[in-house]
Amino acid sequence: MKRVLEPELMEDEGQVQCYAQANFDAPHSQFITRLSHFINGAPFSGVALDLGCGPGDISCRFARHFTLSKVHAVDGSEAMITMARQQTPDDVNRRIRYILGMLPDVMLPQSSYELIFSNSLLHHLHDPQALWQVIKKYAKPGTHVVIMDLLRPDSSEAAHALVNTYAENEPEILQDDFYNSLLAAFTVPEIKQQLKQAGLDLEIEQISDRHVFISGIIPGAYFTKWT
Ligand SMILES: C[S@@+](CC[C@H](N)C(=O)[O-])C[C@H]1O[C@@H](n2cnc3c(N)ncnc32)[C@H](O)[C@@H]1O
Repeated sequence: MKRVLEPELMEDEGQVQCYAQANFDAPHSQFITRLSHFINGAPFSGVALDLGCGPGDISCRFARHFTLSKVHAVDGSEAMITMARQQTPDDVNRRIRYILGMLPDVMLPQSSYELIFSNSLLHHLHDPQALWQVIKKYAKPGTHVVIMDLLRPDSSEAAHALVNTYAENEPEILQDDFYNSLLAAFTVPEIKQQLKQAGLDLEIEQISDRHVFISGIIPGAYFTKWT
């Protein structure tokens, strides 16, 4: 099935409200567990970068899990950033800085980060290189990169089946969002090709019937190659 683009930013108030109230407990806690495992359970205490943070649920979970960490969380949607600022609980609020900005042009407060993560952004991007180029720009040797996203099923029937399995009881607007996201997502071979084009050596793993996990550590050698 060919990729069907969806609007890059989530700016519609109703859509943002619905997304912010949805229960993403299972995939988002799985994301933090996998990320933590990937960094060998180390007590990360630096500044992490969250790309396409949406209403901030993953940023907050990360900050709560890594109690000494800080997060710079970026999204191009003003409605999402406003929602994230409103929803972020007091216990993590001082450690998360929300930044309104579009990938790939966003200017970030730091020139590099030790940890860069992103959940469910890649499928939104009309040009996926926006994500990989920002990672290259803001990584340094040793930066840990952790990305999770949806995978595009083989057919629209398979996409409908996934919506019925995992979102049957959700509001219609969320079901539509999920369906559109599945159609906009990439396949494993497409992601492989994107990473090759970007010159990024990251591991790609299909971790469920609908999710892909991409991770790796940026080696020093890249930087001599890029300059
Ligand atoms: C599906 S949401 C994921 C939000 C969050 N990471 C999560 O897992 O709940 C994708 C987010 O990426 C943002 N986005 C899409 N394209 C972007 C771009 N080029 N630059 C910055 N943000 C973008 C959208 O506005 C939206 O908030």
